[in-house]
Amino acid sequence: MRFDYRPIGVIDTPWDGPENMPIQPAGAAGVEGTVRLFEEYREGLQDIEGFSHIILLYHFHRSRSFELRVIPYLDTRPHGVFATRAPRRPNPIGLSVVRLLRVEGGTLYIRDVDMLDGTPLLDIKPFVPEFDVPRDVRAGWLEELQHAARGRRSDDRFAG
Ligand SMILES: C[S@@+](CC[C@H](N)C(=O)[O-])C[C@H]1O[C@@H](n2cnc3c(N)ncnc32)[C@H](O)[C@@H]1O
Repeated sequence: MRFDYRPIGVIDTPWDGPENMPIQPAGAAGVEGTVRLFEEYREGLQDIEGFSHIILLYHFHRSRSFELRVIPYLDTRPHGVFATRAPRRPNPIGLSVVRLLRVEGGTLYIRDVDMLDGTPLLDIKPFVPEFDVPRDVRAGWLEELQHAARGRRSDDRFAG
């Protein structure tokens, strides 16, 4: 089976390379970007401005290959790629919850961006606490380390 996904827009951010950029939106607090939705999809934005946060799904376009065990930014030990948020994955799809500031035409002004400039956008969904924040959450190997994402910056270890 193959899936022929096409980008529906482009995400513009201040980050032009993986060196020294945030590894999650939590580490990108206040950093603004835009989503430019292609003309043919703009009708699909109706009612989006009522949401304070949106989920962006995008293609890690600068990731080339993948490994099934990786040493992620927040640890020195290897973990299975599916137990991490590493950008090099069999299907290089990224997910970020960002704040939606305003919508002007087909442009969404967003904050807390942790993706590279020019990242192709695959989908937008509204963030809904009742749907997206489960109770009794465990964070696995990240339990003690997750808060360090605020201060951690990436490097080029996942490039190529
Ligand atoms: C650890 S990933 C997390 C991204 C997303 N929040 C997620 O969980 O799927 C973020 C890192 O991926 C890399 N990255 C961001 N955008 C990328 C892109 N378009 N192509 C390849 N790597 C990218 C950067 O090194 C960035 O710091």
